Amino acid sequence: MFEIFVYDTYEEVSQKAFEVMKKLVSEKPNAVLGLATGSSPVGLYKKMVEDHKNNGTSYADIVSYNLDEYIGLPVTHSQSYSTFMHENLFDAIDIKKGNVHLPSGVSSNLEKHAADYETELEQNPQDIQVLGVGSNGHIGFNEPGSSFDSVTHVVTLKHQTRLDNARFFATLEEVPTHAVTMGIQDIMRAKTILMVATSLKKADVVYGMIKGDISENVPASILQKHPHVIVVLDKAAASKL
Ligand code: GLP
Repeated sequence: MFEIFVYDTYEEVSQKAFEVMKKLVSEKPNAVLGLATGSSPVGLYKKMVEDHKNNGTSYADIVSYNLDEYIGLPVTHSQSYSTFMHENLFDAIDIKKGNVHLPSGVSSNLEKHAADYETELEQNPQDIQVLGVGSNGHIGFNEPGSSFDSVTHVVTLKHQTRLDNARFFATLEEVPTHAVTMGIQDIMRAKTILMVATSLKKADVVYGMIKGDISENVPASILQKHPHVIVVLDKAAASKL
């Protein structure tokens, strides 16, 4: 079930996403947050940081699980999702280091690491899962063709995804070819999903997610089967609905 909100600006989109998050954190101070990287949730994280500083909203008992991580980038790499999360959120709020979980892209046994992450997720279902959507319909790094039954696993990134993310690297060759990601089942387990999508580049995929056929070719279309998805869009991303 989708609850759709459309705003003029990214600022308003981020404010709405923040209000959803703040309500949860205020009502349930030990909530489990599923978090996402990418540019879409940056405004949300900025507002969480400002609110923590200005109003003292505490994350001391919050637990977080991130969706995904590139394989082969050390956590200290400027483009690792670990670095992204620490710079954009974790280092500026009072979440405990031990409560922060990101899949590792440098484990010596990636398959075992993915299985262990999966076990933890099953034991700690997300109260909310923040999501962006890739231009090809991926959620997390579940690329088109991923099974709707997938759990945490290693994936080969599509060329389009590497192109989309090349803007963060000096050259396309530097963009990792593989990642480890929560599976579709892990995302669907979240009680609430908070999807943020903006810009015309996302208009087709937002249409496919909400009104298209439910198909593994558009991983985000599985969200049509989730009981509570809050979708926050700007007008451009909503323009084909
Ligand atoms: C990456 C991430 C996704 C994210 C997507 C969209 O590939 N793995 O979790 O949703 O990009 O990114 P953006 O929000 O920058 O458009």
